Amino acid sequence: MKPVILLLAKAAMAAKPREEMQGLCDTVAKRNPDYAVTYALQELGTPSLRAKLTELADDRVEEVIIVSLIFPMEPAFPGWIRKSVHRWIEQRGDAFFPRIRIAHPPIGETDRLSDMIEALTFAADESDIVQERIKVPKGTVVPDQKYRLLVCMGGACNDAGASLIYGHVRSEQDRLKLRDSGAGMMSCKTNCLGPCSLAPVVQVWPEGTIYGGVDEADIDLILESHIGKGEPVDILSYPSNGKKQTLK
Ligand code: FES
Repeated sequence: MKPVILLLAKAAMAAKPREEMQGLCDTVAKRNPDYAVTYALQELGTPSLRAKLTELADDRVEEVIIVSLIFPMEPAFPGWIRKSVHRWIEQRGDAFFPRIRIAHPPIGETDRLSDMIEALTFAADESDIVQERIKVPKGTVVPDQKYRLLVCMGGACNDAGASLIYGHVRSEQDRLKLRDSGAGMMSCKTNCLGPCSLAPVVQVWPEGTIYGGVDEADIDLILESHIGKGEPVDILSYPSNGKKQTLK
């Protein structure tokens, strides 16, 4: 199998951006015939990084180079990717793994990226959006949603991979249509929720249940049990008992 360039983008929910990502993969593959090229999404949409790595490992691809399309790349981002990959390795167990590398060149020193920005600039629409008369819709429906799933994006949680956790929550929420089905759920990012040593932390309301040390598989369980059936997942939760707690 050819080595794989895995383009990691932020979000693509609708068909059109997914087509654009596929088009980009095809173009990169044409220019780099020794590689296969595919993509994964870090925040919203599918495939997630974990799902794509599973697919590539099942196909016994020997090498994967992850190229982030998220600019500028926060300094902690390669660390998040590493942690996510290692959580995936632990969950996958004793199976085949490709060699995985991360490409993160300093963007200010990358001539080809400047070339790309130049090409995009010359491809800008001719029309002046100031002259467009667009009707901005007024009013909104207040959704009937019982559950709120908060993903902590404070410093400790960020370092522990909260961004990838949030991406997984949003992708699964969309895939399972959790906004409107069942009791209804919304999700959002928050600042520090308090119990930083349990990072990454999420909290589910209206119960206010704190879940700590969560990974993508834990989120699947929380969505299935707590959101889906109204049954909090005790093995992942930490009660507010007035005592210092560490990760289980
Ligand atoms: S940073 Fe997440 S609980 Fe403090």
